Amino acid sequence: MILKTNQREQVMPLPVVLVSTVSKDGIRNIAPWSNITPILRPFDDIVLASWIKRDTLDNIRETGEFVINVPPVDLADAVMICSKNYPPEVDEFEQAGLKPRPSKKVKAPGIEGCLAWVECMLVEEISRKNYSLVIGKVVNLDVDDYYFNKYGEMDYEKAKPLSVMLGDQGMWFTRPVFAGRYAGYAEMFLNKKDEAPTITGENG
Ligand SMILES: Cc1cc2nc3c(=O)[nH]c(=O)nc-3n(C[C@H](O)[C@H](O)[C@H](O)COP(=O)(O)O)c2cc1C
Repeated sequence: MILKTNQREQVMPLPVVLVSTVSKDGIRNIAPWSNITPILRPFDDIVLASWIKRDTLDNIRETGEFVINVPPVDLADAVMICSKNYPPEVDEFEQAGLKPRPSKKVKAPGIEGCLAWVECMLVEEISRKNYSLVIGKVVNLDVDDYYFNKYGEMDYEKAKPLSVMLGDQGMWFTRPVFAGRYAGYAEMFLNKKDEAPTITGENG
């Protein structure tokens, strides 16, 4: 079967995160985001794609800050509340009944009940006609110890991080499970040594 080219998002599972921001007037905002990825290993940059018309994008432009919160499956209903197109003056923490969690390095609060809180500063916005790519630098990364081991690895069977498969008329919320195969990074290299670059200066 051949799909339409813009159905490319239906052929791969996507993460679901909640991006929390604050407007220049102090209004707290939350929006679910799936078009988001860390930029390569071992850097600390991250990129998200945003439609031009998003309060989240306006807030990031105004304040230069945002927090990426990683929700567990239990927050799927709250995710959908935050996905509604409330006007910018509406506090989405209140709408979704979510509790703010003070951040360490940015003014925007994180969200209680999430698994991890990735505090970011805006590095660059790449503007296209209908969307923008927002590159952020992670300035603080907190995780809930209950779900992570001492190496900072998530016990995803216990944590149940939320992901999504997009369909033609809607989306199925999903979560990752172990596929029965582990691979050390060294396995990717012919000399069996992990050749990821060590960071010596600016990323990228
Ligand atoms: C699971 C999920 C993932 C989403 N991912 C994105 C995304 O990657 N980029 C985007 O611009 N909008 C995305 N949206 C839509 C926004 O979350 C939605 O339009 C929201 O109302 C935007 O809020 P804001 O205007 O307060 O920023 C997603 C929605 C859902 C439910």
